[in-house]
Amino acid sequence: MKTQVCIVGAGPSGLLLGALLARAGIDHVIVERQSADYVLGRIRAGVLEQVTTDLLIEAGVGERMQREGLVHDGFELLFKGERHRIDLRILTGGKVVTVYGQTEVTRDLMHARSAQQLPTFYEAQDVRLHGIEGSSPSVSFRNKGVETEIECEFIAGCDGYHGVSRQSVPATALKTYEKVYPFGWLGVLADVPPVSDELIYANTERGFALCSMRSATRSRYYIQCASHDRVEDWSDDAFWEELKLRLDLEARGRLVAGTSIEKSIAPLRSFVAEPMRFGRLFLAGDAAHIVPPTGAKGLNLATGDVKYLSDALIEYFIEKRETGIAHYSSRCLSRVWKAERFSWWFTSLMHRFPEAGEFGQRIQEAELEYLVGSVAASTSLAENYVGLALR
Ligand code: APR
Ligand code: PHB
Repeated sequence: MKTQVCIVGAGPSGLLLGALLARAGIDHVIVERQSADYVLGRIRAGVLEQVTTDLLIEAGVGERMQREGLVHDGFELLFKGERHRIDLRILTGGKVVTVYGQTEVTRDLMHARSAQQLPTFYEAQDVRLHGIEGSSPSVSFRNKGVETEIECEFIAGCDGYHGVSRQSVPATALKTYEKVYPFGWLGVLADVPPVSDELIYANTERGFALCSMRSATRSRYYIQCASHDRVEDWSDDAFWEELKLRLDLEARGRLVAGTSIEKSIAPLRSFVAEPMRFGRLFLAGDAAHIVPPTGAKGLNLATGDVKYLSDALIEYFIEKRETGIAHYSSRCLSRVWKAERFSWWFTSLMHRFPEAGEFGQRIQEAELEYLVGSVAASTSLAENYVGLALR
């Protein structure tokens, strides 16, 4: 089988890249290790930057997001028992974010792809990349037991942190940077009304908490937990009791508990692999970088990579120019590192670090008090939160 671009991974990165390439008439195939249902079953974050919502609309899959997504023009910081609103719209001169679950983004992209009957191999086994340093790379895998090989001109590694693409780059050609945080996030999804109309990020002496949502009837909550915690260590009741202890009195009174429809613990790490291009292989999204979820940057960084990559591939195939692919890695990494910095800073500010002691807690509270009292400081927070422009 031959194509122009072989995309490895059918998560948001791979599916969005496929949608943008299809609109430009560029032949491509997606090869995904899991089933479509498995991919849809992964519950992830839910805050979309304007860059992401614009791209979903450009890809022709933004209609439900525009109809059902919740436009948020601010969020609250809770510390020392008080909530302080960060007015995104005013501080950024009109920018906002949209709350719309990543699962729904993936669902919309999958439905559009299926309607266009674009070639997608799910449950591909033993996926391997070949000849990425040459001019005719390929991707091999077992499809329903049949050995299959796709010859292509470029491979897009959209297969996430644990994927095969980054591992296919010789270790000597790749520089990685990593920071693992000494805690995790215990997340619960429940069909209960959100505690507030906007997100609440809480810094408390018991640890971080986040009150988010998916709709007016479905809420998403997180609490910081120990790295060694297991999800079976946390009953629903224990979760709701701990969350209440991390909220202010008003939110505690409004909180509606309920049975979790999803409950999981995510480790927190910062990770970057450089460069994001090696020969005919491009890395995009989680395959190249990971951020702690505090700043809700994971999906939004992935879509930024995909925009740069789709523009570069379209320029190559349609205009026969190589400027975009030559500058892909440096353009992505410039934006990636700024988001890594913001995500690290926001995580460092909002979480309890045992080794920092009471002095560390007071320093965090002092920074938060400065932040909410300074237009300059809260503007910096706001412009990073709504997302930096694509260059
Ligand atoms: N072969 C084929 N597919 C693979 C392989 C492989 N060897 N390994 C992993 N995959 C698939 C995974 O099953 C998954 O569907 O690649 C896809 C990668 O998707 P994501 O991990 O969601 O990464 P990405 O598409 O870049 O989206 C980034 O997802 O993880 C969140 O927080 C992250 O919001 C961010 C977003
Ligand atoms: C979510 O709704 O899952 C969410 C929102 C904001 C974050 C992280 C996760 O910073």
